[in-house]
Amino acid sequence: MEELITKLADAWGPSGFEHHVRDLIRAEVEPLADEWWVDPLGNLICRVGQGERRILTAAHMDEIGLIVSHIDRQGYARFSNIGTLFAATLLGARVRFENGVIGSVGVEHQITKRRELPDLPGFFVDVSGSGGVQVGDPGAFVQPVVRRGQRLIGKSLDDRVGCAIQIEAMRRIKAQGTPHTLYFAFTVQEEVGSRGARPAAYSLEPDLGIVLDLTPTGDQPQGDKSPVQLGGGPAIKTKDTGHIVPAAVKNLLIERAEAAGIPYQLEVLTHGSTDARMIQIARAGVPTGAISIPARYIHTQSETIDLGDVQAVLDLLVAVLTQPVELNG
Ligand code: ZN
Ligand code: CO
Repeated sequence: MEELITKLADAWGPSGFEHHVRDLIRAEVEPLADEWWVDPLGNLICRVGQGERRILTAAHMDEIGLIVSHIDRQGYARFSNIGTLFAATLLGARVRFENGVIGSVGVEHQITKRRELPDLPGFFVDVSGSGGVQVGDPGAFVQPVVRRGQRLIGKSLDDRVGCAIQIEAMRRIKAQGTPHTLYFAFTVQEEVGSRGARPAAYSLEPDLGIVLDLTPTGDQPQGDKSPVQLGGGPAIKTKDTGHIVPAAVKNLLIERAEAAGIPYQLEVLTHGSTDARMIQIARAGVPTGAISIPARYIHTQSETIDLGDVQAVLDLLVAVLTQPVELNG
């Protein structure tokens, strides 16, 4: 699992340019899916099983990044953000373009004289001496996954870890079987507003949606008041800024966790949302829940997760997908 997460998180794939990540995932899922296809926006969708109830699970392949908007004669590229970029994460960061060119991020005026960081327009990517980078080229951050004890640290664990969990769930369910029609969607463009999940849910017409994504923990110094702890197990979402989880779905996830003896936490996310936001309002509406992987430093290059949480989220997802589902409000 660690190897798979690392391979996916280290891959290059800002929103709208997920094809390298998709190729890696396709190689993993081809032997596991009864059927798979890539839809017009680039979502990779895998069907496993054939039952009356259609359950859609989703994890997003894309990552935050930037796109070049202007390059001056000295080779300093200005950029527009892809997804939510925090200025505090930028200075000194390395950016890789698809052709392999590495840029280094600088900031206007000497950092030693600064008291505070400017907004994004004050930053630039130094691509001097490279050639080959032009306006419209997307870049992703470079920071290989490393391990500290049971923790993995890297860029884009949001949401490549969710993708890895879906792949492992498919592997287990291939052996175990399922009474449902399961659709595993590896979605595009979540970081720019879940633009991939929406048409995917439209075309698949699911009866139930379950999203896997990261959620921030409340266990860091002066952190948000949140009970979610790193290593505390799957966080069953109850609400975020775009999604109120129906009681029936929340209860289903809680019941399955308790029946399987999986420790879980309850989550209210006060800033941010996931693909579940769009899946729930597809077509006539889809009851949708989310199983979150607790994480620290989301949208930095050192997103930090716990491997025990990853296993527990996988166990919970498989427990939900391999048994009959009744939604009791
Ligand atoms: Zn995410
Ligand atoms: Co994100």
